[in-house]
Amino acid sequence: MATINMPRDPNTLSNYNNWRTKHTVAEFTIDFKKQRLTGSVELQLESTTDKESEEIILDSSFLDISAINIDGKKTSDWTVKDRFEPYGSPLSVKVPAIAKGSSTYLKIEVSTTDKCTALQWMAPSQTSNKKYPYMFSQCQAIHNRSIFPCQDTPDVKSTYHFKIRSPLPVVASGLPTGASNFEHGTDGESGTLLYSFFQEIPMPSYLFAIASGDIATASIGPRSLVSTGPEELSDAKWELETDTEKFIEVAEKLIYPYQWTQYNVLVLPPSFPYGGMENPVFTFATPTIISGDRENVDVIAHELSHSWSGNLVSNASWEHFWLNEGWTTYLERRIQAAVHGEPHRDFSAIIGWKALEDSIDRFGHDHEFTKLVIGLKGKDPDDAFSSIPYEKGFHFLYYLEKLVGKETWDKFIPHYFTTWMKKSLDSYDFKATLLDFFQSDKEASKKLESVDWDTWFYKPGLPPKPDFDTSMVDKCYELAKKWESKDFTPSPKDISGWTANQIVVFLEAVQLFKTPLTPSQSQAMGKAYSLGTSRNVELSFRYFSIGLTARDETVYHPTADLLGTVGRMKFVRPLYRKLNAVDRGLALETFEKNRDFYHPICRDMVEKDLKEG
Ligand code: BES
Ligand code: ZN
Repeated sequence: MATINMPRDPNTLSNYNNWRTKHTVAEFTIDFKKQRLTGSVELQLESTTDKESEEIILDSSFLDISAINIDGKKTSDWTVKDRFEPYGSPLSVKVPAIAKGSSTYLKIEVSTTDKCTALQWMAPSQTSNKKYPYMFSQCQAIHNRSIFPCQDTPDVKSTYHFKIRSPLPVVASGLPTGASNFEHGTDGESGTLLYSFFQEIPMPSYLFAIASGDIATASIGPRSLVSTGPEELSDAKWELETDTEKFIEVAEKLIYPYQWTQYNVLVLPPSFPYGGMENPVFTFATPTIISGDRENVDVIAHELSHSWSGNLVSNASWEHFWLNEGWTTYLERRIQAAVHGEPHRDFSAIIGWKALEDSIDRFGHDHEFTKLVIGLKGKDPDDAFSSIPYEKGFHFLYYLEKLVGKETWDKFIPHYFTTWMKKSLDSYDFKATLLDFFQSDKEASKKLESVDWDTWFYKPGLPPKPDFDTSMVDKCYELAKKWESKDFTPSPKDISGWTANQIVVFLEAVQLFKTPLTPSQSQAMGKAYSLGTSRNVELSFRYFSIGLTARDETVYHPTADLLGTVGRMKFVRPLYRKLNAVDRGLALETFEKNRDFYHPICRDMVEKDLKEG
């Protein structure tokens, strides 16, 4: 059998079973004019086999590699192999065989190219104050290979030293070194500073992150900062300063102390393609969470939770992504419950259930990507992305909690995160850890015998729906019922005193009607509840979705306008799909107009969606 030495991550071309990255020095100059990073990466690679290996294969994608040193000596014995979609072009370097446990140092001179999928570059005209350029990275899931050659798999963890030269402030997924982390460059003429960061906790490549631009910073707690554009700073501070430290303290009680020293948030320009990205030390977040009502800070509870689930304890491959996102969604909801009361957990889970149903409907109920553990051989993990690992993962953990009882389950949480701290695991490791932990507890292990692991792991479609506590959603459903009886006359009073998330639940219930609203009903709804003009995109997004389904033409252009100001894929992709269905011309025109505004990943996704449509 040839499988013995097969790596368990199918989405890397690296031979990481023979070599393991232990430390990474990333030394780059941010060149805003040429829109590229230039510099070098030095990888310390430890040999892990007795069968000595004379080749190191690294992931690389659309890179410009100019020179390689092995242990300080230049080599020409390397090649960039043909591109193999969607994984890139492996870099093969011939090296002297060394004993197991010894290290080889590879230093690679490299520049990114204009095909880089990990970076978004913005000209001054594309930023909010239009004064300076901006750039940021987004490496999850397999885009780090498009910044520098690496073992681009979450099954490998490395410590990092970032040495980044830029004319503008820099943020990275490490701690600033020393009292001040920047020095004046030796190239004083170009006016750059050298910013240096260290990440001493080993982390997977997808958590490598940098951003640079006109960035200002303020405190939002004893160990937390928020960074964003100077004009946006006071709003961002207001939004985050009451909850961030509270969230950290709750998570620490549930698991164990926060390990990454600082928990900071970088609020990005509106083209940031995700709600949040859990980059260590600095969560990257969409500006749509700065909604002026503190109603979207659940994103912070989520990204913070990744500091344990995902960042300290990582999925070994994207086939087991639920271990990252399901655990994180679970922890996020435990935080909500502790801060706002237990009904908030089910409230959030009910919103999640709708997202789960939508994702399963979109893929089809038998689709591979609707399983908890998915097959990704030959596939692009970006294509598998959906709410399913989040929500099905949450439900699996919630089910286990209910099965053994909350008090008993809560003892397992710190055990799990201690056992796998600074390591990567797959679903089978999870199962073994759980069963092993409860072995000494007769009652719990008896109950665990009833778990149908294969069904949970491999059965496509919806998991069993639990009986949710509906106390917070009942009035939302009641209002929706009134709308379903066609002759309802709305008034702003219908929703007075509601939280934005309760309005979300109402709007989602309306989306489930068997017959869509009439165009005039849609207009009346928008007017009575001021939905089209809301600063909270969670609301305008859902209202426009309803309006598009109702073929209410008064929302078509506002939808197109929103698509020019927000690049978060959660909103952008469904809105394009819906707009495309009712006015393909406007959808295509809007996409062409905003092409350059979107992040490369978002642009590719929407392009695919519009082609299929
Ligand atoms: N890690 C994810 C974002 C991600 C996943 C980026 C896969 C690239 C590939 C992040 O933690 C996340 O889940 N963000 C959510 C927010 C959340 C509150 C569910 C998002 O972006 O919507
Ligand atoms: Zn997440």
